[in-house]
Amino acid sequence: MRTGATPAPRTGPGLGDVTRGRILFGGDYNPEQWPEETWTEDVRLMREAGVNSVTLGVFSWSRLEPRPGAREFGWLDRLMELMHGSGIGVVLATPTSSPPPWLGRLHPETLPRDEDGRTEWWGGRQHFSHSSAVYRRHAAAITEDLAARYGGHPALTMWHVNNEYCTYDWGDEAAARFRHWLRRRYTTLDALNSAWGTAFWSQGYGEWAEILPPRHAHYLKNPGQVLDFKRFTSDMLLECYTAERDIVRRHSPHLPVTTNFMPLWSGQDAWRWAEQEDVVSVDLYPDPRDPFGAQHGALVQDMTRSQAGGPWMLMEQAAGPVNWRGVNHPKPRGLGRLWSLQAVARGADAVCYFQWRQSRQGAEKFHSGMVGHAGPRGRTFQEVARLGGELAAIGREVTGRHSRGDIAILHDWHSWWAGAHEGRLSARVDHAEVLTAWHRALWQGHFATDFAHPEHDLGPYALVVVPQLYALTDAAVDNLLAHVQDGGTLVCGFLTGVADQDDRVRPGGMDPRLRELFGIRTLHEWWPLDEGESADTDGLRGTLWSEEIEAAEDASVEARYKGGELDGLPAVLRNGRVWYVSTLPEPHALRALLTRIAAGAGVRPVLDGLPDQVEAVRRGDLLFVLNHGRESVTVKVPGTHRDLLTGTAVEDELTLGRYGVAVLRP
Ligand code: GLA
Repeated sequence: MRTGATPAPRTGPGLGDVTRGRILFGGDYNPEQWPEETWTEDVRLMREAGVNSVTLGVFSWSRLEPRPGAREFGWLDRLMELMHGSGIGVVLATPTSSPPPWLGRLHPETLPRDEDGRTEWWGGRQHFSHSSAVYRRHAAAITEDLAARYGGHPALTMWHVNNEYCTYDWGDEAAARFRHWLRRRYTTLDALNSAWGTAFWSQGYGEWAEILPPRHAHYLKNPGQVLDFKRFTSDMLLECYTAERDIVRRHSPHLPVTTNFMPLWSGQDAWRWAEQEDVVSVDLYPDPRDPFGAQHGALVQDMTRSQAGGPWMLMEQAAGPVNWRGVNHPKPRGLGRLWSLQAVARGADAVCYFQWRQSRQGAEKFHSGMVGHAGPRGRTFQEVARLGGELAAIGREVTGRHSRGDIAILHDWHSWWAGAHEGRLSARVDHAEVLTAWHRALWQGHFATDFAHPEHDLGPYALVVVPQLYALTDAAVDNLLAHVQDGGTLVCGFLTGVADQDDRVRPGGMDPRLRELFGIRTLHEWWPLDEGESADTDGLRGTLWSEEIEAAEDASVEARYKGGELDGLPAVLRNGRVWYVSTLPEPHALRALLTRIAAGAGVRPVLDGLPDQVEAVRRGDLLFVLNHGRESVTVKVPGTHRDLLTGTAVEDELTLGRYGVAVLRP
C-alpha cells in the first residue's frame, strides 16, 4: 500500500556509481552491422566527441546465439576489450527484445497473438510473448551466459534489460497466466464476478477456465476484464524484467540495472516498474516541428525524475530526424544541444542517443545517428561532438544534484486504463492529452513541477494538481483529503473521482467525500463537448467537457457557464483551499487560473518576469536558463553568477541567442 508513503529510497548500486562526476554521454552502439575496421574508426570518433558510455547488444540475440544453444561471444569479447582499452564504459543489454528467427520457427508458442488471434511473426522486433515459458527459458539462458561471461568485465558499468517493454498477448498461454494472475488478485470467482460487474449482460463466470483475455468480441467488452488485462500485461512484462534483472544481479551485484521506458506509454505502470530499477531511464523523441516539443520534453523529464526520486538517465534521443513519423524533420542547428541541456537541467545525469552510427540497411536506416550518413564532417556529428565537450566541462558541478518541483501533478496508470474504456461518454477525452494540457499551463507559467502517484506522500507540496484521475482507490481519496486537512491546496479537473479501483462508479457519480471537498451538492449530468464546440463562462472558455453541477451552500462559484443548457450553472468551484474545474479551460485561461491558484498557495515561478520562450530550471543551486526561441532574448537573473558553459560572469541580466542556454552558478 502506498498511502502517504514516500517511494522507498533506492539502496544498492545506482547511477552515481557509474557517473562519478561525469555526465554519461554516448548511446546505443550496434557494431555488428559494420565490418571490424569501422570499429576502430568508431572509437576514434567517440573519443573525439567525448563519448564515455555505449550500450551494446540491445538487438544482438541472433548474433550471440545463431543456432539454438550456440554461443558466439568472440566478437563481443573483442568489443568489450576495445571499449575498455579506450576508457569507454559499456552498458550491456540483454538481447531479449528481438528473438532470433529460429526461436519462432521451432517454438511458435513464443510468438504473441493479437485480439483477433493473429500471430505477430518475426521479421520486425519485439515478437515475443511475455507469457511464453519457452521464451522466458531461452531469454534466461542467454542472459545467464552473458552475465556469467561479462558480469565482472572491467568495461561493464551497468546492465540494460531488454528494450522498451511494450508487447501484449491475447494467446492461450497468456490466457492461462491471466487466470492465474486473477486467482491471486481475487481468490474467489465471486469476488471476480463482483469486481467485473458480470451481472450485466449475463457474463457471470462459474469456472476459472471460462475466463479469457479480452479477445475480439461482438460489442463492447467488459470494462473490468479489460482493465485487469492491462494490469496483468504490465505485471507480466515486469516479471520478464525482474527475472533477467535477478540473473544479472547475481553475477554483478556491484552494478546497477535499468530498462528503458517509453515516455508516457500507456502499457506499463511505470511507478511500479521504477521501484524495481536501480536507474530509471527513458527514451525521448520530441518532434522538432512541434511548437510544444520542449514542453513534451519537460513533461517526460519531470515524470522520469519523479519516478527516479533523483538523477535519471536519458537513454535514447535522436541526433537528427527519426523515421517513424509521417514526415520526419531534422533538428535545426542548436536544438539538439538545447534539448539535451534541458534534460540535464531536469535531473538527467546521462545524455545518450539511439544510435551511434546511422545504419545503411535495415528498417531504421533513415533514422539519424550521432554519426550520420554525412559522416564526421556532417553538421550532426559536429554538433554532437561540441555537446560532448560541454557536458564534460560541467559534469562535476552538475551530477548527483537533485532538481525538485514545487507543485505535484498526480498521475496514475490504473486510472488512465479505467477511463479509456470504449464505453466512455466521450472518445475525445484522452488522459494523456488532458495531463499534457495541465502540465503545459504550469510549464508556461514557469513553475517547477514534479509528478506523484495519488497515494504518495504529498507533504512536500503546497499545491497538488489533479488534471484527471477518473478512478481513485479509497486510499487515494484519503490521501487527497489528508493533503487538504494538512493545509495544502488542491485543484482538480473534470472526471476525477468518478470510479473506484474496480471501475465501479461511485455513488452519485463522484466519490461523496470528494464531492463534499469540492463543494458539489449534486452532479446532475456530464455534458461532453464536440470538436469545435466550447463552453463559455463569465471568465474563461471551456473545451472538451462541461458539467451540470449544483454547488453546495458554502462553496464559492468562481466561474459560471454562460449561454446554452448550462447557463448560470457553476463551471469552476472553490471551497476553501480546494478548486474544482468542470471543463478544460483554453490554454491561456488554464495558465491564468493555475497561476492565480499557485500564488494563493504561496508557490512562485522559478524566476519572475520570464519571456514566454524562456525556461528556467533549478538543479541544486544551479540555475539553467534556456531560450526555446529562435530570436535572441535578454532575461533578468538577479545577482552575480558564473555561466559554467562559457566561464563568464553574469550580473543581473543575461542575453541568450537562438536556442541559447546558460548554466548559472551563484
Ligand atoms: C526506440 C528503440 C530504438 C530505436 C528508436 C528509434 O527508442 O528503443 O531501438 O528503434 O526507438 O527512434
